This record gives sequence, structure tokens and C-alpha cells, in this order.
Amino acid sequence: MKERWNFWTSRALLILAVAGLLTGCNKPQSPDPSAGGAGGAGVATDNVIKVGEYASLTGTEATFGQSSHNGTALAIDEINAAGGVLGKQIKLLYEDNQSKAGESAAIVLKLISRDKVAAVLGEVASGRSLEAAPICQQNKVPMISPSSTNPEVTKRGEYIFRICFLDSFQGAVLARFAKETLKATRVAILTDVRQPYSVGLAEFFRQRFVQDGGAVVAEQKYSGGDKDFNAVLTATKAADPQAIFVPGYYTEAGLIARQARQLGINVPLFGGDGWESPKLIEIGGAAVEGTYYSTHYSPEDQSPVVQNFVKKYQERYKETPDAMAALGYDSAMVLADAIKRAGSTEGPKIRDALAATKDFHGVTGRTMIDAERNASKPAVMVTIKDGKFKYVETLSL
Ligand code: PHE
Repeated sequence: MKERWNFWTSRALLILAVAGLLTGCNKPQSPDPSAGGAGGAGVATDNVIKVGEYASLTGTEATFGQSSHNGTALAIDEINAAGGVLGKQIKLLYEDNQSKAGESAAIVLKLISRDKVAAVLGEVASGRSLEAAPICQQNKVPMISPSSTNPEVTKRGEYIFRICFLDSFQGAVLARFAKETLKATRVAILTDVRQPYSVGLAEFFRQRFVQDGGAVVAEQKYSGGDKDFNAVLTATKAADPQAIFVPGYYTEAGLIARQARQLGINVPLFGGDGWESPKLIEIGGAAVEGTYYSTHYSPEDQSPVVQNFVKKYQERYKETPDAMAALGYDSAMVLADAIKRAGSTEGPKIRDALAATKDFHGVTGRTMIDAERNASKPAVMVTIKDGKFKYVETLSL
């Protein structure tokens, strides 16, 4: 009898725990707008508009998801405080993919079929956006990636949008930076073969750098999650480059910088937006001093729209917003604006309104969605000086 009781109690606890996890995860920081009403997972409610978000809240790219989510949540709370959209409050339902490959499609399918979200925000990393995009496309639920830069992402269909620049642009900007600012004509590249972002950015950089007369003297490969880069760095050193391009994410970039310096490689290292995380400095330490990377925005930008955002974000989260926070914020604002203009929460109508976004002014500048559902914005170059990120210049082609 006792055992039976235990069995059922543990079952009940398990069910409660799972339910708690789901709703716990889905809880925005603001008071739940659907509380007390008919709201709840799986039930279509009349008084709220549900928006789904999938993000890397834990794991190797945790700061990407956390920042993006914080920016998104801040925007949604502001929209709700100002009366919501179409007379309704927006409810953000968000889920963690743990920075893992193979999680995002199922998560997004759950948000669509169980929660009936009107639109989906995410992801930061291109590889994970590519996994979930077909699900949104098949279900005619618009998806906005705040910050995935690989060109393939929006090619998944007419429901898939992004509000940031592309790696074809970022690679070209970095090639010019290497040539003109670093004065390098011989560059080595270290690519993360597990990330479509890294593979794509390496290729776009190479094309432009070679076209402009530069030489790629070594192209070494690693896999996200690797910890020991001695072999690839030794091979890189042997090619005697004047600079090393590491188009990967911050965890590996920090380790690569450290191990490169230990091997006596003293040439400049540089990367793309995947380096953007406070963890880069934590992991890389003194080895990332004097390195450079390109990104989407700088909190040092003195324009009132940026400074106002930085202030609100700092008040709420006690930290300075990075590029993912700014893009996450803008993605939610662009979506709310589109729903307003659509006058509806139906997927095809929101899609059409998103496609018609031509002059939206946000924290990351002007969003104009083009015929391929992409945006174009200038890139910001950042360096690390005295253990801090420092704005260098803004670049367009
Ligand atoms: N652009 C990166 C990708 O597509 C993700 C990223 C965006 C990283 C913004 C940092 C800042 O994978």
C-alpha cells in the first residue's frame, strides 16, 4: 500500500514538475496578462496574443539566448504597458534549446501546435534558426530571427524573416578591415565546421579577401565544443600569417586566443559577431587584448534611441545590453508593429505586414525588409582594451 502510494505520489509529482517546468519557462517577467482568465498552455485565448521564442538560455552559447531573451522581454513589457496590440496584451512563451543542435524544431513545433503562437522570435545562431525555420514555414507562422546572419536562413520560405545584416556583407566588411586597418595581405582562417554560421562567414571573407589581392595562407578546421586547439594552431603558425580570422562563437574564440598566445602566436586575431559575449573576455583573459570583431550595435553609440535603451536595460537587468539584447528588443518591436498594421493575428496577414516593413527605426538602426525578407544595416567594429569592449568604427560597404 505504502509502495503504491509512493508510486502514485511520485507520478503526480513528476506531472506537476513537468507542468511547472513548462509554465515556469513560459512565464514572462511581467505579471502574466492571461492570469485569472481563460489563459493557459494549449488554450487559445481571446484576451492575449501569444508569441513564441526559442533561445539558447543555457549551454555553450548561453549568453546569446539570455541577452536576446532579455531584450525581447523588455520590448514586450513596454508594448503591453502602452496598451498592447490590437487591444490585447502580448504573452511571450519561451523555451530553451540548451545551445544544442537537434532541439529547436521540436520546441518550435510545440509552441505552434500546443500553444498556438501567432509568430515566433528566434534564434540567434544560424544553425538553430535553420532547424526551426521549416517548421514555421510549413505551419504558416511567421518567424523573425533577430540575429542569424547566414544567408540560407531566410531562404527557407516566405514566412522567414531577419532584422540583421547577412554574412555576405559581414565577410566583405571583415576582409576590407583586415586589408585596410590590419594591413594584412596573408591571413589564416580557423573555421568551426559544426556551425553553418562559421562555414559561411569563412567563405564570404575568403572570397572578398582574395578578390582584393589578399592570400589565405592556411584554412584550419575545428568543431564547436573542442577544447584543445594546439594542433590547428601549430599548423596555422607554420603558415606564417599576418593575422588570424576566427569566424566562430565566443567560447572557442576565447580558448583559441589563449592557446595561440601560449604558442607564441602574436599576430592580431579577429572574428565576427559570434565573438560578442562578456564570456569572451572571461575565457580569453589577457589573450583577447587587442583583438577585433564585427557586430551589430555599440552601447557607446550616443544617439538618444540607443542611450535610452541602454538605460532601461541596465535598470532592469543590471548589465550593459550587447548586440543580441538590442536585436532581440528590435525583433519584438518589429513584430508588434507588423501585427498592428496587419490588424490581425493570422499568419498570412502578419507575414504580409512584415514583408511590408520599410522604415522601422529601432535601437539597431533602420529596418527595411527587402524582397528576400532580409535587412541591411552597417557593421560596428569593436576591440578589447584593458579588459573592456571598445567601439572602433562603423563600417558599410
Ligand atoms: N550571427 C550569428 C549567427 O548567425 C549569431 C550572433 C548574432 C552572434 C549576434 C552574436 C551576435 O550564428
